[in-house]
Amino acid sequence: MGYFKNIKLNCFRNFNEFQLDFSDKCNVFFGKNGCGKTNLLEALSLCTKGRGIRKDKITNFIKKDENAFSNIAYFINENIEYEIKVITELKNNKLQKKILLNNEFSSEVNKKIQSLITYLIYLPENERLFLASPTTRRNFFDHFIISSNEKYSTLLNFYKKNVYERNVILNNINFDEAWLTKIEENISNSGLEIYENRKIQVDLFVKNLESISKYFNIKFKVNVEINDPFYNEKLNIDKYMISLKKNRENDKIVGGARFGPHKSDYIFFVDKNYLASQLSTGQQKTLVLLLYFSQCNYLVNTCNKKPILLLDEVCSHLDEINTKLLLKIVKQFDMQVFMTGTNKDLFSFLSTNTNFYNISNK
Ligand SMILES: Nc1ncnc2c1ncn2[C@@H]1O[C@H](COP(=O)(O)OP(=O)(O)O)[C@@H](O)[C@H]1O
Ligand SMILES: [Mg+2]
Repeated sequence: MGYFKNIKLNCFRNFNEFQLDFSDKCNVFFGKNGCGKTNLLEALSLCTKGRGIRKDKITNFIKKDENAFSNIAYFINENIEYEIKVITELKNNKLQKKILLNNEFSSEVNKKIQSLITYLIYLPENERLFLASPTTRRNFFDHFIISSNEKYSTLLNFYKKNVYERNVILNNINFDEAWLTKIEENISNSGLEIYENRKIQVDLFVKNLESISKYFNIKFKVNVEINDPFYNEKLNIDKYMISLKKNRENDKIVGGARFGPHKSDYIFFVDKNYLASQLSTGQQKTLVLLLYFSQCNYLVNTCNKKPILLLDEVCSHLDEINTKLLLKIVKQFDMQVFMTGTNKDLFSFLSTNTNFYNISNK
């Protein structure tokens, strides 16, 4: 796993032409609101599959009044330099993102990029993880799972596609029973696999948080559970398929499926039965940072992966413990890190070995 040497933006968001060279360690983008700090993280996040950290539409990435963007990043891994070009392309009258590696494009190339780059992303809304909607928590967990297992995103897409397909079939008067059963089998198989992955991630957190909390002298003991009336350890393919079959009429009316991993939530307990959402804002931030520390530790030491950390506005509510935690996340694992904040002073705790970029002046 390597690092970004630089990036050149062309007609991307608020940038016309813009170039930055990076440190392979810690990089801080600072400057006033709206100057383009998050846009820069977004440009980096677009160097692999997907719609980037904001999950925005492709057209919104293009600078106003222009008709295409074209970003080039140089990525170094084991002393080999790769050119990653991210461009827009019209396909079937639809604008799409396209990634070229050393000017080549193929599914092999996409796999290669995925094996080269893993991101771990912190967004400002993660600070409210325990107060936010179940969707936010699901996305948070799914992002963590993808960081260790890129195939998981294909699994999620397969599941969603089949839930959608089932709904189309149910709304068709003359549907083919065998085809519907096949789709429900797909949903059950992929649904179970998603649950399994999430359970593993939850168990990993619980196990790691205990030892990490001790290390940081954090007093509360954290427990995480999947909150989903449909899911339990005894759920199997037969039970899943029977439930789907039973609910066809209902699901046809409401659209989609009323149960399954797309409806799950997670509950965080502190000291057995106290909800994490009841903690102070700063304590909730501690817990969120612990989750990031735990994941970095897991990726680096168990999965042998070094993620690129993209931390957007991570410096609020930093008391002594949270500063220590963030510093550990940023420094301990020798990963390349990108952070944003409105003011350079927010990052004084980082001391040496950090590149600062004033984005307002660009
Ligand atoms: N497609 C676009 N064309 C031009 N400007 C854009 C485009 N998309 C977003 N912007 C501008 O980018 C700025 C937001 O940048 P952002 O990176 O979110 O700022 P911050 O530095 O606060 O993180 C806003 O001023 C917004 O108007
Ligand atoms: Mg921002």
